[in-house]
Amino acid sequence: MSAPPIAIYGASGHTGRLVATDLHARGHAVILAGRSEPKLKALADELPGAETHPAGLDDPGALRELAGRAGVLIHCAGPFETTGRPVASAAVEAGCHYVDHSLEQHHARWFFDTLDEPARRRDLVMITAMSFYGGLGDLLAAAAAAGLAEVERVVTAYAVSGWRLTGGARRTAELLFADTRRITYTDGAHHVGYVEPRNAVFPFPPPLGPRTMIAPIPSSDVVTIPRHVRTRQVEAQLTAETFAEEGAFTSDDLPPEERARSRFIVAVQAITADGNNAAQAGGHDLWRASALASVEAAVRLARGEGPEPGAHSPATAFPAEPFLRDLEALGLFDLTLRKGASR
Ligand SMILES: NC(=O)c1ccc[n+]([C@@H]2O[C@H](COP(=O)([O-])OP(=O)(O)OC[C@H]3O[C@@H](n4cnc5c(N)ncnc54)[C@H](OP(=O)(O)O)[C@@H]3O)[C@@H](O)[C@H]2O)c1
Repeated sequence: MSAPPIAIYGASGHTGRLVATDLHARGHAVILAGRSEPKLKALADELPGAETHPAGLDDPGALRELAGRAGVLIHCAGPFETTGRPVASAAVEAGCHYVDHSLEQHHARWFFDTLDEPARRRDLVMITAMSFYGGLGDLLAAAAAAGLAEVERVVTAYAVSGWRLTGGARRTAELLFADTRRITYTDGAHHVGYVEPRNAVFPFPPPLGPRTMIAPIPSSDVVTIPRHVRTRQVEAQLTAETFAEEGAFTSDDLPPEERARSRFIVAVQAITADGNNAAQAGGHDLWRASALASVEAAVRLARGEGPEPGAHSPATAFPAEPFLRDLEALGLFDLTLRKGASR
C-alpha cells in the first residue's frame, strides 16, 4: 500500500512552493492546498501527479477533508495569527500529523495550551515553528544547552542580510512589530506586555564580529526554548541592519532566484554561571532552509519516525544535533558547536 500523501496548505506561496517542489522531487505524493484554486492548478501543472484541494480558512469542513486525505499536513500560509488556528485545528480533528512555519509567539502559546492534549489522545505529532526564525533558534538552543544542568540565559541571535520579504513575511513582520502584547521570558517565567525594543550588541565570532541588534524581537523562541532548556531567561535578537536594507520591505514580487541570495548566521549562547556553550548555523537562502526543515520533519513523521504524540517544538520533536546535522548535509548551512568557553 502506498504512503498517504503529504498536504501543503499555502502551496502557492513562496515557502509552500519550495516545500511542494522538494517533496515532489523526492517522490512523495503531494496535495497542493490553499484558498486559490487557479493558483493551485497552475502549480499542479508543474508537478505531474500532484493533486489539488482548494479550502478557505472559513470552511472548516473543507480543511478537515484535506487533513483527512493526508498523512501529514505542512502549513505554509501566513500570517499565522490569522491562518494558524483553523488549519491546525482541522489537522488534529481529522487525525493528521502537522508541521508549521509560524514564528508568532501567541500562536505558539495557543498551540501548546490547546493542542497537546487532543494530539496525545489521537496519537498525533503536531510541530510548530519548524522553520528558520524560531525553529533554528530552538534547535540550536537545545544543541548548545545539551549536558548543562542549569542555564542562566539563552540568547538566539539572527544575523540576516539580503532578506527580501515576501508578502506573507512582510504582513507577519508588520503585525508582530505592531503588537504591544509581547511575550517575554525572564526570571524563569513568561510575561505578556509592552516591551521597549533596545539596541544590544551581540558578539558574533569573526569574520562577522559584534553587531548591533534589535532586542528583543517578537519570535516564538521565548515560548519554545523554556519547554526543553532549564533556564531563567530567553531572548531572541535580530541584526538592526536587516530591516534597514533597501528593498527589504518592497520586494513582494521579487523573482525566487533573487530571494535566494539572503545570507544568515544564527548564533545561540547558553550562558551559565561559569561560561557558555555556543551553537551556530551559517548559510545562505533562509527560505530554502525554512522549507527543507519542514520537509525533513514531515518525511520523518510520514515514516513513523516521530516523537511521542503531542504538541512539539522542533527540538522536542527530534534530537537537535542529529537533526541539525541532517540539515547541514543538505547544504543548508555549516554547523558549529562550541562547549564550555569561559566568559
Ligand atoms: N519562521 C520562518 O522563518 C518563516 C520562514 C518562511 C515563511 N514563514 C511564514 O510563512 C508564511 C508564508 O510565507 P511566504 O514567504 O510563503 O509568503 P507568500 O509567498 O506571500 O505566500 C503567502 C501564502 O499564504 C497564503 N495566505 C495568506 N493569507 C491567507 C488566508 N487568509 N487564507 C488562506 N491562505 C492565505 C497565500 O495564499 P494566496 O497565494 O492565495 O494569496 C500564500 O499561499 C508567512 O507567515 C511567513 O512569516 C516563516
